[in-house]
Amino acid sequence: MARIVVITSGKGGVGKTTTSAAVATGLALEGHKTAVVDFDVGLRNLDLIMGCERRVVYDFVNVINGDASLRQALIKDKRTEGLYILPASQTRDKEALTQEGVEQVLQELSKDFDYIICDSPAGIERGALMASYFADEAIVVTNPEVSSVRDSDRMLGILASKTRRAEQGEDPIPAHLLITRYAPERVDKGEMLSVEDVQEILSIQMLGVIPESQAVLNASNAGMPVVLDDESDAGQAYRDAVARFLGEDRPHRFLTAQKKGIFGRLFKG
Ligand SMILES: Nc1ncnc2c1ncn2[C@@H]1O[C@H](COP(=O)(O)OP(=O)(O)OP(=O)(O)O)[C@@H](O)[C@H]1O
Ligand SMILES: [Mg+2]
Repeated sequence: MARIVVITSGKGGVGKTTTSAAVATGLALEGHKTAVVDFDVGLRNLDLIMGCERRVVYDFVNVINGDASLRQALIKDKRTEGLYILPASQTRDKEALTQEGVEQVLQELSKDFDYIICDSPAGIERGALMASYFADEAIVVTNPEVSSVRDSDRMLGILASKTRRAEQGEDPIPAHLLITRYAPERVDKGEMLSVEDVQEILSIQMLGVIPESQAVLNASNAGMPVVLDDESDAGQAYRDAVARFLGEDRPHRFLTAQKKGIFGRLFKG
């Protein structure tokens, strides 16, 4: 049985798709057979970031509608062994992802995969609810700014009340915080919230902090998940986050502006 992990945020444009691609690739690199599923009907960003957009023939909605089998729609990643992508449909019909259809596809994927990573669309409506409904675990992506943190807080409320697990009266699904686009110089200037601020407001376990990095844009232009760029700060930070997700204890890095020692202040004790 696969573990289903939703990558969600509330607010748009904070780095969910970048994170989905990075985490899925990172898990596959660690030897876990992983499928990454694009729930963003109408947009299709994931296949661009994974560099497989030209190979898309069938998509998630085709599988739900029975126009194609899951096997036909899944795209094998060209770089990383054990990694598969299920692209989103470009239909304008936001109702195309039915709960029964999604459940069926996730169940079928579950038989074959260790992890299923669900790339949620922005917002807290249908698409996002569908992406999180069947999740066993959530990674909540937040930028260090008030509006993003506020929307993530609303999303935490939804995760605690509107997932299948919540409806069945089970414990709420574990939610991990991933802060992305972190720029310590701007935190020092008071233009951004600090890691500590964000953590205090959301008070969930912190999986990692991904620095604001040109490497993310370069990687996405090249159609390559940034986690494969070992030289980059963002790539290394994503590798660390995946290792922590798998239970390893790693210190947080890239939290301070160069030559300023707030690291000690933030993480002492
Ligand atoms: N760590 C980072 N450093 C710099 N740019 C980043 C970083 N993370 C994401 N970005 C950029 O932010 C933009 C939005 O990223 P992404 O598409 O992953 O967000 P999203 O949350 O999936 O958006 P949407 O809500 O529209 O689905 C992209 O241009 C991406 O390159
Ligand atoms: Mg996205």
